[in-house]
Amino acid sequence: MNKTVLICDDDKKISDLIEFRLKRQGCLTHCVYKGADAIDYVKHFHPELVMLDIRLPDINGVEVLKEIKKTNKDSTVLMISAHADVKLAVECMKHGAYDFLEKPFENTELDTKVKNLFERFELQEEVTELRKELGEKYKSKALIGSSRPMKKVFEQLEMAARSNVNVLIEGESGTGKELVARAIHFNGSQKQGGFIAVNCGAIPENLLESELFGHEKGSFTGAVTRKIGKFEQAQGGTIFLDEIGDLSNPLQVKLLRVLQEREIERVGGGQPIPISVRFVAATHRDLKKQVRDGKFREDLYFRLNVFPIRLPALRDRREDIPELLRYFILKHNKEQIKIDGQALERLIEYHWPGNIRELENFVERIILLKGDRDVLTEEDINFLDDLNNELHAIEPDGDGVKSFDDANKIISDNEKSILENALKKANGNVSMASKYLNISRDTFYRKMKKYEIDR
Ligand SMILES: Nc1ncnc2c1ncn2[C@@H]1O[C@H](COP(=O)(O)OP(=O)(O)OP(=O)(O)O)[C@@H](O)[C@H]1O
Ligand SMILES: [Mg+2]
Repeated sequence: MNKTVLICDDDKKISDLIEFRLKRQGCLTHCVYKGADAIDYVKHFHPELVMLDIRLPDINGVEVLKEIKKTNKDSTVLMISAHADVKLAVECMKHGAYDFLEKPFENTELDTKVKNLFERFELQEEVTELRKELGEKYKSKALIGSSRPMKKVFEQLEMAARSNVNVLIEGESGTGKELVARAIHFNGSQKQGGFIAVNCGAIPENLLESELFGHEKGSFTGAVTRKIGKFEQAQGGTIFLDEIGDLSNPLQVKLLRVLQEREIERVGGGQPIPISVRFVAATHRDLKKQVRDGKFREDLYFRLNVFPIRLPALRDRREDIPELLRYFILKHNKEQIKIDGQALERLIEYHWPGNIRELENFVERIILLKGDRDVLTEEDINFLDDLNNELHAIEPDGDGVKSFDDANKIISDNEKSILENALKKANGNVSMASKYLNISRDTFYRKMKKYEIDR
């Protein structure tokens, strides 16, 4: 990636020279000649490096440095100082300057300083990435379930991880498709590379191509810099193509070519780039049916579906429910909450249309609503049934709510019952009820009025 550098030195000969050297290193540069302009530029453009002269015509460099650090404390500043000002330059380092360069300097001295500095940046980025991955890896371990269907999933997961074949994960919304994709990646041989997720359903079609393939500078209006796409970012790792069933036909064709040729071309760039990535795709749709309906290419389907993993709905593995409840309660609350027998039975019988995600949301909500009681009873979970009935009433084919109005109605009915519940728990005391829900009293009153809730 091109680094952005601001150069501020009133001696035009020097700033021209620095600019020339930095451009040769591939940096994007901008020059200003006054301290005030430097402060202003940094505030708006956040360059990765500022090269700042100590003696400037308006404000002196030390003050400029302090100002920059005030608005942008992470910016890296390299002071440029005349021999007589070396003491001042050292002073600057106390105020957060990274290093200084003494005038006059050799070209190679400048080059090396800047090169080392950027290398350090990259190392740091790598470390941050690595830490993040470690965190994610830990997260990928927490796949809960010991039911038969889940045992089968674990077996498939291990087999998939050991090989390098394309995997297609199917399952209803909230069944853990992304979690399984991560687990495959982090247990596989390509875990040193990144795990790059792309939600094909969430990105507007016209942006998705350059998101996936990247583009060359100037390849279309708005392509002001070169962009590395997700396929290239996943080099040596895994690309997770989520909601693959939403991919448009033209992109299906392009993806098929990538799977066949194992190479990509950036938008507007001629050179094919070989890629070595593992493909994991997921969808909550019935992809086979989409093939039958002519909405999804059959050849692409076969390419992706080399190793299918079908995630069971939660209602098909009810024996995992108690364990999942305990797991999520501990995740969101410091201590375990007891659920009495009848309530637990109801939770096990419940339909869970939103699967694990719904169960986790449910747990978060009961933690909010329970107040300081430590046993939950059937009464505390009544709102589940209301929601369930609503969903069934308007979702006959299980293919999503029909309209925004329907969705809004569910949300507002749900909100109303949450408010009522909280009010009940608080014996009609609005202050207390609003505390349960972590919203202000004013908001609570406003919502009571909106839903015509009586104390
Ligand atoms: N077996 C499991 N054990 C623990 N947590 C799980 C399990 N399965 C899913 N989850 C959690 O449930 C939530 C939903 O999972 P995930 O996002 O992977 O589902 P999904 O199938 O991709 O859903 P969607 O189709 O809506 O994108 C996440 O917070 C995930 O961590
Ligand atoms: Mg998902």
